[in-house]
Amino acid sequence: MHRETLQGFIVLEGIDGSGTTTQLGLLKTRLERSGVAYSLGCEPTTGPIGVLIRSALSGSFDARPETVARLFVADRGEHLYGPDGIVERCARGELVISDRYLFSSLVYQGLTCEPSLPERLNESFPLPELVIFFELDPDTAAGRMGSRASLEIYENLEFQSQVAQRYRTVLSSFEEAGMKVVHIDAEARSEQVEEAVWKAIAPLANKVSRR
Ligand code: TYD
Repeated sequence: MHRETLQGFIVLEGIDGSGTTTQLGLLKTRLERSGVAYSLGCEPTTGPIGVLIRSALSGSFDARPETVARLFVADRGEHLYGPDGIVERCARGELVISDRYLFSSLVYQGLTCEPSLPERLNESFPLPELVIFFELDPDTAAGRMGSRASLEIYENLEFQSQVAQRYRTVLSSFEEAGMKVVHIDAEARSEQVEEAVWKAIAPLANKVSRR
């Protein structure tokens, strides 16, 4: 099935603890300085469906894996098409960056459900212009996450090793179909990662509207 590509839409992906959220925060400073029109988001979102997902991830809402897959898709639908959503912002010429998108569903829910379910549920969503994938060894990520107060249901080494492997399969199939994926060495020092992320984003930032 042919999918639309949203110009100016960039997605950060990686296993848990690979640093996407930290880097999104660092990007904000760079984008502010650059003068481009931009917005930052994340999935699960901070909206009501995202809040429900968080309670499933923490284990306080003991949902079936298929229900979790459907919640992520419902949350994504609002993130994309809701008021001031990704589609509207890209159409205005903004650079829109999301910490995680449908690739997370194809990877995580592809492991917890029959893979055809997340594939089917996500098949009509548009693709980003660029995916930045944070490459990090699951052992290193587990070491980094060890200091976190409470762990979510997916945050164990065995599952994260499967996540790392499935990311490779999922992203290479999109790359083969022509989507641009930049792989970043997330093992490097934070400043180096920040530099590599900016290098990937800068060409796209030059194409969008100024504030
Ligand atoms: P994230 O907010 O990146 O993690 P953190 O709590 O470390 O800041 O993502 C939350 C979790 O949600 C993460 O384990 C990946 C998972 N996830 C899915 O399983 N499917 C999805 O579609 C998305 C967007 C995230």
